[in-house]
Amino acid sequence: MAELLYEGKAKQVYATENPDQYLIHNKDDATAGNGVKHDQFAGKGVLNNTISCIIFNMLEEAGIKTHLIEKLNERDVLVKKVDIFPLEVIIRNITTGSFCKRLGAPEGKVLAEPIYELCYKNDDFGDPLINEDHAVVLELANREELAFIKEATLKINELLKAFFLEFNLKLVDFKIEFGKTADGEILLADEISPDSCRLWDVETNQKYDKDVFRQDIGDLIETYKEVLARMEKK
Ligand code: C5P
Repeated sequence: MAELLYEGKAKQVYATENPDQYLIHNKDDATAGNGVKHDQFAGKGVLNNTISCIIFNMLEEAGIKTHLIEKLNERDVLVKKVDIFPLEVIIRNITTGSFCKRLGAPEGKVLAEPIYELCYKNDDFGDPLINEDHAVVLELANREELAFIKEATLKINELLKAFFLEFNLKLVDFKIEFGKTADGEILLADEISPDSCRLWDVETNQKYDKDVFRQDIGDLIETYKEVLARMEKK
């Protein structure tokens, strides 16, 4: 049995025979509010893995370098080994979520320009919002790495917005993570799925993402299945 290196809320990371590669296994767990709300949904790991692989392949084809080597089976991917920057990189195209809660801003405002946010990925402190100066002083990343991450993230936003619009979904906001290889190359890592994006139907604004679980307003598996079905219809 391969060595388990890390276990997160929704994933396990295993060593492989190749020291430059990891295997990521997608679990069925869903958490919200920094783990306060926790449940399991049979098949969620399969749906997220399938959706995320389609998106990572699309981004690779558009010139974004990612950790993905290949999808091994419905739950597992083989990826390049990276050290993850302890940063949650967030883009907002429409206001909602913690932005509105923190600032008392109106919900659902379409932004003329995307808002770029960084959070310090640290459960003990509740993943606090930080700026680039904080990230440098905390040695989470250097200035050059932060500039690369911001430029790549804005490009990923444009690609994802256009991609989801093809399926009649608005990309409201999302969170991504980056990592660095032993050679110093910065790659998009982790996943992109309805767990990490907010997606609203273009016509009805119905939610097609983890907010159905966070807010108890729908069936998570049926919702994620619908996202995949729209993607596969194209
Ligand atoms: O909660 P908040 O409004 O800050 O979330 C912004 C975006 O980041 C949402 O798409 C959410 O799904 C994602 N996110 C995430 N993991 C976190 C925090 C936020 O995927 N720990």
